[in-house]
Amino acid sequence: MIKKDIISIDEIEKEDILEILNMADKLENMSREEKINLLKGYIVSTLFFEPSTRTKMSFESATIGLGANVLSLPPLDQSSFQKGESFSDTIKMIESYSDVIVIRHPQNGSAKEASLISKKPVINAGDGTNQHPTQTLLDLYTILKEKGSINNINIAFVGDLKYGRTVHSLAKALAYFNPNYHFVAPHSLQIPKEILLELDKLNINYYLHENYEECIKEIDVFYMTRIQKERFESEKEYNKVKSCYILKKNNLENICKDDMIVLHPLPRVDEIDISVDETKYAKYFEQAKNGIPIRQAILLKVLNINL
Ligand code: NCD
Repeated sequence: MIKKDIISIDEIEKEDILEILNMADKLENMSREEKINLLKGYIVSTLFFEPSTRTKMSFESATIGLGANVLSLPPLDQSSFQKGESFSDTIKMIESYSDVIVIRHPQNGSAKEASLISKKPVINAGDGTNQHPTQTLLDLYTILKEKGSINNINIAFVGDLKYGRTVHSLAKALAYFNPNYHFVAPHSLQIPKEILLELDKLNINYYLHENYEECIKEIDVFYMTRIQKERFESEKEYNKVKSCYILKKNNLENICKDDMIVLHPLPRVDEIDISVDETKYAKYFEQAKNGIPIRQAILLKVLNINL
C-alpha cells in the first residue's frame, strides 16, 4: 500500500479534499464515545521546530479525542539538536516511536524531506514560507460551513501574501472550485509570481490591489493574515510594512456584503481590531475550532481508517 502523507496541496486531489471535509462533518456529528476508540492504541508524534499554539494543540486534542496518544518533541533547547543530531536521524528515530509524524519546521521543503525518510505517514503542519495544507483544509471547511459551498467563492487575501504560507496553500486548493481572487498587499509583500503563473494556467480570475477598499463590496470572504515578522531580513524591513492594514468594525458595517465572513488563521497582532469580534462577520474563532474535526479526519485518512 502506498504511504499517505499530507505535504502539499499540489499533491492532494480534489476528491481527497472533499472526502476529508465530509469526514470532518461526520466526526462533528458523532458522540465523544463513538470517537474515542477510532485510534485506540495509536501514537501521534508532534515535532514543532517553530512556535505554535493552535496547530500543535488542535492536533494533540484531535489525537486524544480519537483515543490515541501524543508524543511531543522536547523543547528545542532540551532535545538532541543541541548535541548536533541531524534532521534525518531524528526523523528515523521518531518514525519507530509513532504511527504518524506531524511536523512544523522553518525550512521550506522540510516536511517533504521528512516524508522521504519516514516509512510512517508525515503531515506538514507548516514548512517555512511554503505551505500549510492542514490549515487550508480547515479554512475550506469553515467556508463550506459558513457559506454553504466552496464553489465560486469571491475571496480577498489581505496582508502578507509573500511569506504567508496559509495563503499559498489556500489559493492553490480553492483553485479547484472556480474562485475569483483579490490579492491585497503592499507591493513588497504581494503573492509570489509562481503562484500567479499557476493560476494563469488554470484560467483563474485574479486582481492585485494595495487597498482592500477596492474590492470589499463584492467579496464573500475576507481572509486577513499577519505580517510574518519572523521571515523578514531585518527589523527595519519589517517596520516599513508593520500595521499596514488594520480592519475595524466601521470598515465593514454598511459597506461589505451582509453575509460576508472574515477569516484569519491566527494569531493576530493588530490587523483585526477587536471591535470586529462582536460583528456577525467575524468567524476566525469558529475557524480555529474547526481545526479539531479536520485534523481528526486527516489523521484517520493517512492511517487508512474509514468512517
Ligand atoms: C499560521 C502559520 O503558522 O502559518 N498560523 C497557524 O498555523 N494558525 C499563520 C501565522 O503564523 O500567521
